[in-house]
Amino acid sequence: MKLGVIGCGYWGPNLVRSAVETNRCSQIFCCDPSPAALARVLRRFPCVSPVEHLDDIIHRCDALVVATPVSTHYDIAKRILERGKAVLVEKPLAISSLQARELAELAGDKDLTLMVGHTFVYSPAVRKVKEYIRDGILGDIYFLSSSRVNLGIHQKDIDVLWDLAPHDLSILLYWLEENPSCVSAIGRSCVGSLPDIASVHYRFPSGILANLEVSWLAPSKLRRTVLVGSRSMLIYDDTNLAEKVKLYDKGVDLRTPESFGEYQLTYRTGEIVSPNLSATEPLLIEINHFLDCVESGAQPETDGQTGLNVVLALEAASNSMRSNGQVMTIDYCAVPAPMPAAELAQAPPEFVPPTLP
Ligand SMILES: NC(=O)c1ccc[n+]([C@@H]2O[C@H](COP(=O)([O-])OP(=O)(O)OC[C@H]3O[C@@H](n4cnc5c(N)ncnc54)[C@H](O)[C@@H]3O)[C@@H](O)[C@H]2O)c1
Repeated sequence: MKLGVIGCGYWGPNLVRSAVETNRCSQIFCCDPSPAALARVLRRFPCVSPVEHLDDIIHRCDALVVATPVSTHYDIAKRILERGKAVLVEKPLAISSLQARELAELAGDKDLTLMVGHTFVYSPAVRKVKEYIRDGILGDIYFLSSSRVNLGIHQKDIDVLWDLAPHDLSILLYWLEENPSCVSAIGRSCVGSLPDIASVHYRFPSGILANLEVSWLAPSKLRRTVLVGSRSMLIYDDTNLAEKVKLYDKGVDLRTPESFGEYQLTYRTGEIVSPNLSATEPLLIEINHFLDCVESGAQPETDGQTGLNVVLALEAASNSMRSNGQVMTIDYCAVPAPMPAAELAQAPPEFVPPTLP
């Protein structure tokens, strides 16, 4: 298979490296308008062939990977699909649900592979947690709380929500197998004009609550999700290389009262289990999965519809952030009016805490 990687900035070279490691591509092409970015990739991977124009790389390849700024995803992916080629688009799929829906529908109509680079869904640690949830080890999930913060690179075209929250959302949707029904979010633009910190609260139809904290302004890197269930609790810490998942036999049980008015809670503290996990890099699994899907025509696990659902959840959180945290319901069927990119990039109003009675 001839594979093309479009965009060779920060993330593109990782995709090239993984594609080389699969040993399944007869040729790998790269395209980037920045000569410096292209030169860096060619120095690192002499086997890669540079291509100057977008249309040329699309013409030469069977499948393409898009790792360009988010605001360019829609135009590039649409061009690829219109020319009948398979595409893996980096997260998030597009900058609006209108664009994401159009891409998902175009891929469906043309029976082409459209995959979204929700890399963490392919992580052995995330898969292990899914296994625990599916097997009922955690019981009924009550809530999840996630922190994805560090001194991150301020993106030019998207805010911190659209940069970091796609990771948490794609993981949540994969684990819970349901889409959030409503959201409330607040954020602040501390440096520059785009929000660089945000606190987002989702509610799922089953009643599960999920709190996401995303920030480009933090002294150290956190990639930590806590899951609390009726039977046990769990911490998934992606920065902990030795023990990414820890399962805690901890919880609180409400005993059936023996007499009227009697009310008793019992606290459980048992063992902590840290499962053995495969060390395979998620990105390598992701690229192999993309190549499998292109070859077999199978639907990718993180397909266009998944990408659209993540974008819908992000869009609703953005709307809430602009409305000072107002709760927004998420409609998965409605076709929203197109939102100009300039409006998407608008800073939210300063958060005004509600006055307590
Ligand atoms: N899956 C992950 O874990 C992960 C991690 C980081 C970034 N990403 C995603 O990867 C994408 C790229 O992010 P980045 O941090 O590498 O951005 P970046 O700005 O560092 O790189 C983008 C590159 O795209 C090039 N480019 C711009 N327009 C182009 C066009 N029309 N054709 C070809 N190349 C073009 C730019 O010159 C630049 O070199 C984003 O969607 C981001 O969200 C994903």
